Amino acid sequence: MAIPAQSDGTTLTKDPAAGDVLLKVTGLQKHFPIKKGLLQRQVGAVHAVDGLDFEVRAGETLGVVGESGCGKSTMGRLITRLLEPTGGKIEFEGTDITHLGVGGMRPLRRDVQMIFQDPYSSLNPRHTIGTIIGAPFKLQGVEPEGGIKKEVQRLLSVVGLNPEHYNRYPHEFSGGQRQRIGIARALALNPKLVVADEPVSALDVSIQAQVVNLLDDLQQELGLTYVIIAHDLSVVRHVSDRIAVMYLGKIVELADRDLLYKTPMHPYTKALMSAVPIPDPARKSAKSERILLKGDVPSPISPPSGCRFHTRCWKATEICKTKEPPLLELRPGQQVACHHPENFEDQAPQDTVLLSDAKEAAELVSEEALAESAATSAALAAEVEAASGAGDAESGDAESRDAEAGDAEAGDAEADGSAESESAKEEAAASESAESESAESESAESEPAESEPAASEPVASEPAASESTESEPPAKEK
Ligand SMILES: Nc1ncnc2c1ncn2[C@@H]1O[C@H](COP(=O)(O)OP(=O)(O)O)[C@@H](O)[C@H]1O
Ligand code: SF4
Ligand SMILES: [Mg+2]
Repeated sequence: MAIPAQSDGTTLTKDPAAGDVLLKVTGLQKHFPIKKGLLQRQVGAVHAVDGLDFEVRAGETLGVVGESGCGKSTMGRLITRLLEPTGGKIEFEGTDITHLGVGGMRPLRRDVQMIFQDPYSSLNPRHTIGTIIGAPFKLQGVEPEGGIKKEVQRLLSVVGLNPEHYNRYPHEFSGGQRQRIGIARALALNPKLVVADEPVSALDVSIQAQVVNLLDDLQQELGLTYVIIAHDLSVVRHVSDRIAVMYLGKIVELADRDLLYKTPMHPYTKALMSAVPIPDPARKSAKSERILLKGDVPSPISPPSGCRFHTRCWKATEICKTKEPPLLELRPGQQVACHHPENFEDQAPQDTVLLSDAKEAAELVSEEALAESAATSAALAAEVEAASGAGDAESGDAESRDAEAGDAEAGDAEADGSAESESAKEEAAASESAESESAESESAESEPAESEPAASEPVASEPAASESTESEPPAKEK
């Protein structure tokens, strides 16, 4: 895709060199208090994020994966400072931003932007897309060269939309197009770091590939740094340089992409991977590799003792119950928090292993389940081919985009209209807050109530839901 030159490249700090540490997080915590009674006394806390240590380097993509409820979104909101941390430290380009107030954060809002999961509720239905994408300029008091309208139109074409559609409303666009609008808004102020929270989860499989491709193209062209959050490994697989796997508010494994896929070391990573149908004949017969986790993630209000994964781990021993394993670099480029890591010498002797549901489930994976997964993979492969065809067509000239937009309007918009009418009003309120979080940026001090339905994301034990995956664009060459 030919990306027009950025007309307003002004940022407050100089551009970081590729590989420099852009963001550094140490011991990051977020505990949401639980209050009860007339006096609203605190009776407990949701340990949503419970001690994270990681770095994001300029120019890289850090993927963050984990089941629903693991604290991924909370982490995203903490590092973009839409939430106030309970503990720990966040440094951006060497500056401590952990407790910066609204005023202090204002200049930083230009450098750090967020893309939200739901393109239906994160755009204010009452504003035109011109107003939505132009809002960051007004809020930051930035007058782009040639005026806001011209800049917004440039951004629209950057994300593959028709600049003429400046005056249209969000409901006139399909899901994929709305996510492009969200991306354009995030790019308006030429940020250094973009945090994308499940940017494609709400989209059809074929559209997911296009949006992931767009993010990838934009990174190459604009030198962006990404933190991309997803609930399974399929989406981040093709775009990440490194991947952090989260479980119950902690990072359990953090590794270079290729290492993580070739030799996952944390049992949870292995379980997440085996939930993804892989169209690789070599793995089809690998029955022992398929581990289906039973049950839900335990409550973050009182997480399990020792290793938090011990209630679901098929290798758990006594020590796992009592001693929390630290996150250690067991191989260059691979940090793991486990007493008995996979693909490593120190395996738990069978006679010390405690029985868990996961162990039982791993033995129960049937031939039928494997056959079903192979069939899913084949269907997916077909979908991918179709998607990559569509992607190519789309990356062509403005006219073809125009045609696409037109089609979508005729089809998708109608469907949207009917599907949405029920929930539109409810969501309007939520969208207000989402929009203000990203664009208006002043909400750091107030903690917005979580509006995402927690149960909507598939868990690792539901392989069928993670299909987007293999459909995705060709792996990034790094
Ligand atoms: N504003 C909030 N108040 C109380 N609990 C919250 C709030 N936001 C998130 N949580 C809880 O924190 C945990 C982690 O949530 P979240 O970060 O949304 O996880 P994920 O994005 O991985 O699904 C969940 O148990 C969720 O219910
Ligand atoms: S083997 Fe023990 S430490 Fe490792 S993931 Fe399982 S329960 Fe946790
Ligand atoms: Mg989330």
